Amino acid sequence: MKIIAIATQKGGVGKTSTAVNLAAGLALCGSHVLVVDLDPQAQAGTALGVNLVGESQLARSLGWALQARSQGMRLELPQIWFDKSELLSEWEDAGTLHLLASEESTMTAAQDLIHKKGYQATPVLRRMLLELGDYFDCVIVDTPPAVSSLQATALAASDYVVTVCIPEYPALKGAAATRGTVRYVKDRTGGECDPQYLGAVLNRSNPPSKWKSQEVYIRNGMLEADLRPFMTDIRTDNRISDSFAFGEPAAIRFASHAPGKLYGQLMGQILERMLQPPEKWETPDRIEMEGTSV
Ligand SMILES: Nc1ncnc2c1ncn2[C@@H]1O[C@H](COP(=O)(O)OP(=O)(O)OP(=O)(O)O)[C@@H](O)[C@H]1O
Ligand SMILES: [Mg+2]
Repeated sequence: MKIIAIATQKGGVGKTSTAVNLAAGLALCGSHVLVVDLDPQAQAGTALGVNLVGESQLARSLGWALQARSQGMRLELPQIWFDKSELLSEWEDAGTLHLLASEESTMTAAQDLIHKKGYQATPVLRRMLLELGDYFDCVIVDTPPAVSSLQATALAASDYVVTVCIPEYPALKGAAATRGTVRYVKDRTGGECDPQYLGAVLNRSNPPSKWKSQEVYIRNGMLEADLRPFMTDIRTDNRISDSFAFGEPAAIRFASHAPGKLYGQLMGQILERMLQPPEKWETPDRIEMEGTSV
């Protein structure tokens, strides 16, 4: 089982979209996949058609389970996860897709509890996930924006971290800061957790033929900041944003079209990097643009 966190401290750049579409694409190809929603905004749940509303549903929140475990109580993850494999039903040879859902009040309370206990409390999620053994091939963790104890918990839980950038300077800065944070996780958790940085996705890009200096600046900046961008960018595509409203990721709804294909390519590159040392990773070339200083 490989645990991958999709993280950057910058908000609204596409962490959730990347997480659910990579997970859905991987499940379509036959893998057993768990999406973990660690963001109190609970958008990964929305993207998969799960919204925890009303008191009766709070017990299904991952926030509740994290609180319980942080206070020494046992709560098994299979009791609370949602099986979303029906989204894959039209696809032959598909795998399975499960979700650990979030809810704002319970997740915020979990965040406060972990914050009070300090860094030694951040491996809580990793320990719970490792108890699942090899039930899943891959776990994809969607993380909240900003630096918080939940972000620290997500990084501590993961074997690999993928960051996300859009063609705007604050996003580049946020991704670089998150890449830096990954380096400290091992020390801060007393050696228990040791995630490997795996690269950066450029999301909401245009076709390269339409790139303006801003996009070139960000792409080159990603290389200079050693963010190790992937070869495949994810284009701005309304099918990706609209799919949130349908509770079915674009990688499934449009599996044979651009969204499905691009996320499929990206997942292929992520899996390839897991098998290779960083010096062998393929990254895009630096772009020289005439008449602009980039
Ligand atoms: N490639 C894309 N094309 C079109 N819209 C996109 C794309 N990626 C993301 N979006 C849209 O941008 C918005 C922000 O995306 P998303 O929620 O995935 O970002 P986020 O980083 O998870 O945000 P937050 O920090 O609030 O958790 C959403 O409305 C989403 O539908
Ligand atoms: Mg999000």
